[in-house]
Amino acid sequence: MNMIKRIGILTGGGDCAGLNPAIKGAVYRAQDYNYEVYGIQEGWKGLVKGNVSTLSLSEVEEIVDRGGTILGTSRLNPYKIENGVKQVRDSIKKFKLDAIIAIGGEDTLGVAYKLFKEENIKVVGAPKTMDNDLSATDYTFGFDSSVTKAIEAMRSLQDSGRSHRRIMVLEVMGRHSGWVALFAGMASGADWTLIPEEKVNIDEMCQHLKKVYKRKKYASVVVSEGISLFSGMMAKKEELDQFGHMILQKRGIGANLTELIKEKTGIETRNAVIGHIQRGGSPTLFDRILGLRCGVTTVDLVAQERFGYMAALKGNELIGVPLKEAVNKLKTVDEKWWELAQVFFK
Ligand code: F6P
Repeated sequence: MNMIKRIGILTGGGDCAGLNPAIKGAVYRAQDYNYEVYGIQEGWKGLVKGNVSTLSLSEVEEIVDRGGTILGTSRLNPYKIENGVKQVRDSIKKFKLDAIIAIGGEDTLGVAYKLFKEENIKVVGAPKTMDNDLSATDYTFGFDSSVTKAIEAMRSLQDSGRSHRRIMVLEVMGRHSGWVALFAGMASGADWTLIPEEKVNIDEMCQHLKKVYKRKKYASVVVSEGISLFSGMMAKKEELDQFGHMILQKRGIGANLTELIKEKTGIETRNAVIGHIQRGGSPTLFDRILGLRCGVTTVDLVAQERFGYMAALKGNELIGVPLKEAVNKLKTVDEKWWELAQVFFK
């Protein structure tokens, strides 16, 4: 018999649009099973610090259009803290949480999977990340909204570039997978896109930009923050977070690339970094619906006692997939998508 009475929800890692709809979906669905819902503050940190409190319908009923997460978030990794895992266990016991819903990307869900496997903690997951780099789901929520923001930014840059007869470079987030750059480039009509999965060929790109410039007197480029321009662009140890990631934005890829383009083409070039603007703001329709559906599905997974599973979008269906499949391997841009993007480098 299912003995679940209380569930706890947390959101971890970088915030993105769609988190609040996912929280709402879970809280609403929990009513159907008569579960009491607790909100865990700031990701795994809330369980380490015992920062947990009830989460009612009235707290979530008007959040579907709100960016960020009402629960707060952090990049804290309990495995990197002395007694961290024990504190997580203690909080779960103290607040009598029968199951945990972890909403996050590869890092948050990586911890969820480890806690499930090694500590027998009853966890289910929901796939959020603007990077869209989680395996085992067709899309993560947060991606659509962040690319939509990048397209708007590119539109403005292109207006300015067209007026000043310049080359404009937009640096976007996305860490080590190029989905955000690829989709932003294609959907905004950029003339070239650079992604971490593909080797950078500056000479080829500059030749192309000169050709484009001759035709329309301006050009635009999308660059992913995760590309490498020259060796030695490594992070110092203190710049890494608890999951070993560096803040890529600090490397100034867009600015460095702009200098190179200017030098090689002789054309006036400017750049902009969209940064965290891409993560905030009201979720798009797609992310609202996906977030809500993921939230609902996580509670169904709890009710079905499918712990160690994650809600995932496959085609148009929301299903449960093993967390292991989601976190085992980063989903990077494959050749088929890259070939498609190149069709528009003309
Ligand atoms: O993982 C999501 C993400 O937005 C990445 O695209 C980016 O590299 C990183 O988070 C930035 O992290 P922070 O908000 O900690 O600077």
